[in-house]
Amino acid sequence: MKEDRNCQWRVARRPRGNVVRDDFAYTEEDVPTPGSGEFLLKNYYVNLAPVMRMYMSGESVAGERALDIGDVIHGRGVAEVVESKHPDFAVGDFVHGQMGWQTYKVSAGTAQEKFRKVPDVGLRYTVALSALGMTGFSAYFGFVDCGRPKSGDVVVVSGAAGGVGTHVVQIAKAMDCRVIGIAGGPEKCALIKSLGCDATIDYKSEDLSSAIPDACPEGIDLYFDNVGGDTLSVCLENLAMHSRIVLCGSISEYMLDEPYGLKNYTRLRRTNSLMQGFFIYNHVDDFDRAEADMCRWLESGAVRPVEHVFDGFESVPDALASLYSGQNTGMALVRVRRGPHDEE
Ligand SMILES: NC(=O)c1ccc[n+]([C@@H]2O[C@H](COP(=O)([O-])OP(=O)(O)OC[C@H]3O[C@@H](n4cnc5c(N)ncnc54)[C@H](OP(=O)(O)O)[C@@H]3O)[C@@H](O)[C@H]2O)c1
Repeated sequence: MKEDRNCQWRVARRPRGNVVRDDFAYTEEDVPTPGSGEFLLKNYYVNLAPVMRMYMSGESVAGERALDIGDVIHGRGVAEVVESKHPDFAVGDFVHGQMGWQTYKVSAGTAQEKFRKVPDVGLRYTVALSALGMTGFSAYFGFVDCGRPKSGDVVVVSGAAGGVGTHVVQIAKAMDCRVIGIAGGPEKCALIKSLGCDATIDYKSEDLSSAIPDACPEGIDLYFDNVGGDTLSVCLENLAMHSRIVLCGSISEYMLDEPYGLKNYTRLRRTNSLMQGFFIYNHVDDFDRAEADMCRWLESGAVRPVEHVFDGFESVPDALASLYSGQNTGMALVRVRRGPHDEE
């Protein structure tokens, strides 16, 4: 990456199956100059999320416009204002919002880009992409608003060692629930245990159809679904009365040509249960509430962000590909360049 150039990753072609290097094109441009009412941002970190493959496939998701071949790939970043002709953004401000996969950006601070100043909660500024970004807020609105947890609820979280999952586990503990986390492998299970899980299930070595009823003998009150497929199916078989299932994501199905196709959804009927999906961008008007609650939990130590940092702007395509095989633990970020909060 050249410091004095705007380096970018663009869509070279539509992915088939998981993303591979040839799906991406690396380009460089002059660093742009802000006009009246604009500011120049220098990018320090970008986040990675499973939804990015959908952007590259030409789907209009997450409130972002569909990408054409040759477009800079969408991605949120945390960046410093280095020049400003905008009344609300001063040089030296740290902000987070829609940076795209590039090292600089000129912005007019539009509603679409959703730039917000990084709140000071005594943590490094990457918290704006994890706990106080779309990932932490997805955990918040999915769990709190859709899941409507009650003290003592038995909560099962799949994808528990991922970005959303690590936040859900901790919010659930902060709200006095009993939490069973599902993750792949002993290291990930140890991590989620350290975050507060009362029990863990390693879905790669255990049989879910016996492990879930063993861990939840009275049934599941709240299932937070990040993975879909067989895990969702087994959880539906083990619902308590009046349970809630939150449909956050279905990462186990994203590469399938045909969706998994639930056959046992009728279990909802027998238990008077509710299955509800949510989409984070439908909650934008309520972000201040999520930020206030998350800041409170961060400041008290009830929630700590778990970040998996890939190093270097060059690594973004490979880092994205690795998400779909679960190589990240916690929130996946790429460090574009070293910034003020980075240790040497
Ligand atoms: N509804 C919304 O608005 C919204 C917002 C954000 C995210 N999401 C969705 O929420 C889910 C989690 O997002 P995230 O940002 O936390 O992703 P993430 O950090 O990449 O974590 C996802 C985890 O899922 C696990 N996984 C991957 N492939 C799997 C498979 N085939 N079967 C079971 N588990 C698998 C991996 O952990 P293991 O190693 O443990 O398998 C991975 O770490 C995704 O499906 C995403 O699309 C939805």
